[in-house]
Amino acid sequence: MGLIIVNVLRATWRWSQLYLTLLILITERIVRFFLTTFFGFIPFTYYFEQLGLTGSGEEFSEVDKDLERDAIELITSRGYPVEEHFATTPDGFILGLHRITGPKLFDTPPESPPTSPRHPKNGGGSSGKPVVLIMHGFMQTSEAWLCRSNPQDSLPFILADAGFDVWLGNNRGNKYSFKHTQYTPKQEEFWNWSLDELVRYDFPSIVNFITERAGVESISYIGFSQGTAQGWASLSTNTTLAKKINLFVALAPVSTVKGFSNPMIDSLAKSRPDFIFLLFGKKSMLPSTIFWRNFLPKELFVRLIDTSVSLLFGWHTNNISQEEKKMLYSHIFSYTSVKSVVHWFQIIQTNRFQMFDDILLGITPHENSKKPHRYHGRVIPGYHPAQILTKCALFYGGSDNLPNTKALLDHLPRDKVVMVHEEESYEHLDFMWGKDANKKVFSKVVKLLKSNLNN
Ligand SMILES: *[C@@H]1O[C@H](CO)[C@@H](O)[C@H](O)[C@H]1NC(C)=O
Ligand SMILES: *[C@@H]1O[C@H](CO)[C@@H](O)[C@H](O)[C@H]1NC(C)=O
Ligand SMILES: *[C@@H]1O[C@H](CO)[C@@H](O)[C@H](O)[C@H]1NC(C)=O
Repeated sequence: MGLIIVNVLRATWRWSQLYLTLLILITERIVRFFLTTFFGFIPFTYYFEQLGLTGSGEEFSEVDKDLERDAIELITSRGYPVEEHFATTPDGFILGLHRITGPKLFDTPPESPPTSPRHPKNGGGSSGKPVVLIMHGFMQTSEAWLCRSNPQDSLPFILADAGFDVWLGNNRGNKYSFKHTQYTPKQEEFWNWSLDELVRYDFPSIVNFITERAGVESISYIGFSQGTAQGWASLSTNTTLAKKINLFVALAPVSTVKGFSNPMIDSLAKSRPDFIFLLFGKKSMLPSTIFWRNFLPKELFVRLIDTSVSLLFGWHTNNISQEEKKMLYSHIFSYTSVKSVVHWFQIIQTNRFQMFDDILLGITPHENSKKPHRYHGRVIPGYHPAQILTKCALFYGGSDNLPNTKALLDHLPRDKVVMVHEEESYEHLDFMWGKDANKKVFSKVVKLLKSNLNN
């Protein structure tokens, strides 16, 4: 009897959390609808200028311009030479790559539009330098690596100055990889992918493209968060690919995820995929964040993001400079598919680093479950970082409560791990944006990459 009451209460609690989430989502949609309709008649900027809110007529400062700059403009404005390339995946996505070809060229920012060519005249080519590829995390773009206020805090620029040929990748569906040979983003088919496709197609395509273009046999790879998940999965299965990566540096490594500290999102993550697809559709996840980024005053947007990450993940973002947040958060989000969100939810639910489960969710048991496992005659194939084929180095945060780093470390083979570094006070995002990340992490990464070249 007592057990029944406990179960009923637990179910009620979960449902009330789900209803609350639903309510918030619906309210957001109504407010957004109202705002777009109302302001649709008058362009925002015009409207605000009329109200005198945005200092019309004044010159925009470099800081203001930085908030709107794209990856190419960010690189150029910081005085570095840049090239843009496009790699096509076997399933038709056209992925944008950004290449910083050398160290800082000039000091004063050139006038925008950028002076460097967007399309390399002679098709890029070999630089004779060691090549490194840097990959962003979930729902991000290459901008996430480039948007530090001071370029000396930014890993790609540090590497370019240190003599590397630096490439930045972009996964399908984000702002720079928003094209497909056959489909448009308006079609459901365009968004029909999860982490599996990033592993199977995007990562190998990008690596192939770079090794061919740069004329090298192997490159070093630096991944952040989901970028490391792509690494663990691809480099433990594909021997051809693994031969092309001479060192894998994993920043804030992720394979399995602990879940969310917020009960609302946690119950969402543990609900059935049909429900998520019903809530968000089958295309792009939360395109509204872009709307809010453009609509809200920047200070308010920073507040919104701070509150959201605190609620969702319990992050305090103490190690990210308050002054820099306006800039960083302006470049934080891009599109991803709802399916890829569902995939991560499945990984949370089962506590297993596994492929997308097409049929039904919730029947692959949690790995630590005490109940007997009921596989219903099928097993979803898993990814196995334990079988990693390349050398790897891990930098993880002692205060990062998102990934299950301990489980990952326990599984990795000793002979492949060349370095493990714990940064005790670091949370997840600090490995890109920490105010002292240069000193605490990036300098060690550069040293490691250099010593890797010598043996
Ligand atoms: C999505 O892709 C899967 C294969 O990964 C395919 O079986 C399915 O039909 C596709 N669905 C749509 C709507 O394109
Ligand atoms: C393995 O990676 C190579 C790139 O080095 C790629 O061409 C190939 O398609 C990949 N194979 C599989 C099965 O993903
Ligand atoms: C980084 O964050 C931790 C915990 O939030 C805090 O104790 C530490 O002082 C922060 N470091 C800096 C340099 O602000």
